[in-house]
Order: sequence, then C-alpha cells, then structure tokens
Amino acid sequence: MSIAECLLSPKFLSTLRGALISYITELVEGAFICLELIFEGGDMMIFVYVCLILAVGLVVTRLYLTYTRWPNCMKCLLGKTCIVTGSNTGIGYYTALDFAMRGGRVILACRNEEKANEAQKKIIEATGNKNVHVRLVNFASLDSVRAFCEEFNRTEEKLDILVNNAGAVGTGNKKTKDGIMIQMQINYFAPFLLTHLLIGKLLKAENARVVNVSSLLSYYGQLDLEHFNEYPFSGNMTKSELTMYYTSKQCEVLFTRELARRLRGTRVTCNALHPGSIMTDIWRNVPNWYKPFLIFIISFIFKTPHQGAQTSIYCALSDDLNDVTGMWFENAKITKFYPSHLDDTLGKKLWTRSEEMVKLRSEEMIPENGYVMSQA
Ligand SMILES: NC(=O)c1ccc[n+]([C@@H]2O[C@H](COP(=O)([O-])OP(=O)(O)OC[C@H]3O[C@@H](n4cnc5c(N)ncnc54)[C@H](OP(=O)(O)O)[C@@H]3O)[C@@H](O)[C@H]2O)c1
Repeated sequence: MSIAECLLSPKFLSTLRGALISYITELVEGAFICLELIFEGGDMMIFVYVCLILAVGLVVTRLYLTYTRWPNCMKCLLGKTCIVTGSNTGIGYYTALDFAMRGGRVILACRNEEKANEAQKKIIEATGNKNVHVRLVNFASLDSVRAFCEEFNRTEEKLDILVNNAGAVGTGNKKTKDGIMIQMQINYFAPFLLTHLLIGKLLKAENARVVNVSSLLSYYGQLDLEHFNEYPFSGNMTKSELTMYYTSKQCEVLFTRELARRLRGTRVTCNALHPGSIMTDIWRNVPNWYKPFLIFIISFIFKTPHQGAQTSIYCALSDDLNDVTGMWFENAKITKFYPSHLDDTLGKKLWTRSEEMVKLRSEEMIPENGYVMSQA
C-alpha cells in the first residue's frame, strides 16, 4: 500500500479522528484546569502554553475537516419521491437541493410557510426542477404530523426517501399540548409517528430508504424511561436541556435499530447518522453565555451545511447501501455504534412507550416480528 493510500485509508482516518477528538477534549479540560490555577495565582506561562496548544489543535482540526473527501454518486432521482423534514435551512436545505438537482419529486416538510416558500423558490431557481413542493408540518404538534401524513397518503403513490432531519436544541422547559417535553417531541417522537404513518407508502416503493439524522452527541444520551418526560433531566437547567437533546438523539438511534429489525425482509432500509459539526442555525436557542464560545468554535472548525448534507445524501442514494440497514454513519461511512446505541432491550421498551406516547392506533403499528414474519 502506498503512503497516500495508507493516509486515506478508513482505518487511518478513523484512528486520526479518534485521536483528534480525545486530543481536543484533553486540551479543553487542560485549559480549564490552567484557568483555575491562574485564578489561584499560578503561572501565567501555563495559560499561554495551553492557548498555543489549543490554537495548533484547532488548525489541525480545521485542516482535517477541509480535506474530508465525499463519495461521488451520480444517481438520478427522476420518478422518485423524497421527503426532507426541516428543509428550509441548514443541512435539510442542502439535502433537498441535492435531491432536486437529481430530478426528484421533493417535498419540503417545514413548519414555517414563509421560510419554506423562500427555500422552495431558491431550489427551483438553482435546479430548474419545478417538482419541489412545500407541505407544512409542525413537529411540536402530533395532530400536525397526522394532518401532513394524511395529505401525503391521500395524494402520493409511494415514498422512496424519507429524511428525518428536522431538529431543535434548547427549546426549554415546556411540554407540548400532547404532554411531551418539546425537545423530545421535535427530535424523536414526531419523527417516530411520521415514519409509522408513512410506512405504507415506503413499502410501495421499489427500494425505499429512511435516513435518521441523529448526532455524535447521542453518545451522551441518558435515556431513563421512568423520567424522560420530566424536567429537569438532571441537576441544573442548562445541563438538563443539553442532556435532553443528547437523549432525544440517542432515542433516534435506538429507534433506527429497532425499525431496521422490524423491516428486515422488506424493501425498506433505515439508517442513522451524525452529519458532522455543522455551521447552521441549530444553535440559535443555546444560552447567551455559551454563544461567543460556540460562535468562535463554529466559525473555525465546523463544516458548511453543504458538507453537512453529504452523509444524509450518501445514506439516501448510494447503491453500495442497497442492503445495508440498521447502521450508523459518519463522514459517509459505516462507523461503530456508541455504547449508548447498543441496548436493544431498552430500544424495544422505548418503542412500546413511544407507541403509547404518540397514541398510535393498532392498525398503524409496525408488527413486532416484522411484516414478513407476520404474513407467514
Ligand atoms: N448543526 C450541527 O452541528 C448538527 C450536528 C449533529 C446533528 N445535527 C442534526 O441535524 C439536523 C438538522 O439540523 P441543522 O443543523 O441543519 O439545524 P437548522 O439549520 O436549525 O435546521 C433545523 C430544521 O428543523 C426545523 N424544525 C425545528 N423545529 C421544528 C418543528 N417544531 N417542526 C418542524 N420543523 C422544525 C427548522 O425549522 P425552522 O427554520 O422553522 O426553525 C429547520 O428547518 C437536526 O436533526 C440536528 O439535530 C446537527
């Protein structure tokens, strides 16, 4: 193997990524320890030293992110119907733009009509594809999810690609009128319901794909089925809101694994992914004290939304993944699940609890033993 091949091999890149993440984590921890020392009258040089190392770390990370290579896929989507939730902005917008560029019939499933119409206009102008449509849905309301699906099921023949992309962080200590913590509902329960209500149309497609946009932060999810619908999740408020986000993203992955298991033997696959750390509006609700730090980090090391859409696009389109289901992707590659993703017993309990929470009717449920076995 040549040096270049070796440097670009998945093993080397994943080792490098792991090393970078632990390097940066240690740097940040080190910086905090040094700050404590300074405030206790310690040596200023320690602080300068840490800043220098931090700066080098950021430059190395930036270079690594800039040189990430994406697989090239020439797939045409003429005749295919795709839904991308939360596609008026950010990662979802670039995912929908890509599908439109390939000739797909693209449904922009968004909550804000004005923003969605603006996105639709931009996509049509950029691609010349007029088969791009806005359908309103607010994930903070299960009735709204039902209304969206009823219209889709009434008017469309089949669904080839469903990208569960919409998400929110820091929506606060509120429950929706459905009685569910709002962040958990937007990020997990609404997509759970949406996928169930659209499953009939997914099963009608030749090879349908469900793509769940989760997050690296699912690693820190702390799903506890006794208390997940209470606030605070743990200790202080800020930590609590972020923990709720991590947990909602963990739920998406547990859902993906169980859905993939139930759909085995059908022509529908389902995978989950981390899009990368992306410069989008997702951070609009984080606490003010946290923003300057975040903006600095975001503008320096985060990827663009276009880059952030590449793993979703890969999972939705690549022919290499025709039979791949129930997997976790990062940087457009299958990657090892995190420990928080792997408790399938918890995943099954979450599934049953979710059916109750979103008030699924028995005829809307996906059979425990899957469609193939239940028909046998
Ligand atoms: N950015 C990152 O670094 C990052 C990292 C890991 C994972 N992710 C995940 O990637 C996905 C896309 O995020 P993004 O970074 O592109 O964020 P974004 O730019 O804020 O986009 C989020 C989308 O979700 C929509 N949304 C929010 N609340 C909704 C609701 N109640 N009903 C329907 N739609 C709603 C937003 O609509 P409005 O414009 O109307 O608010 C927007 O279209 C999310 O699931 C996020 O968790 C992002």
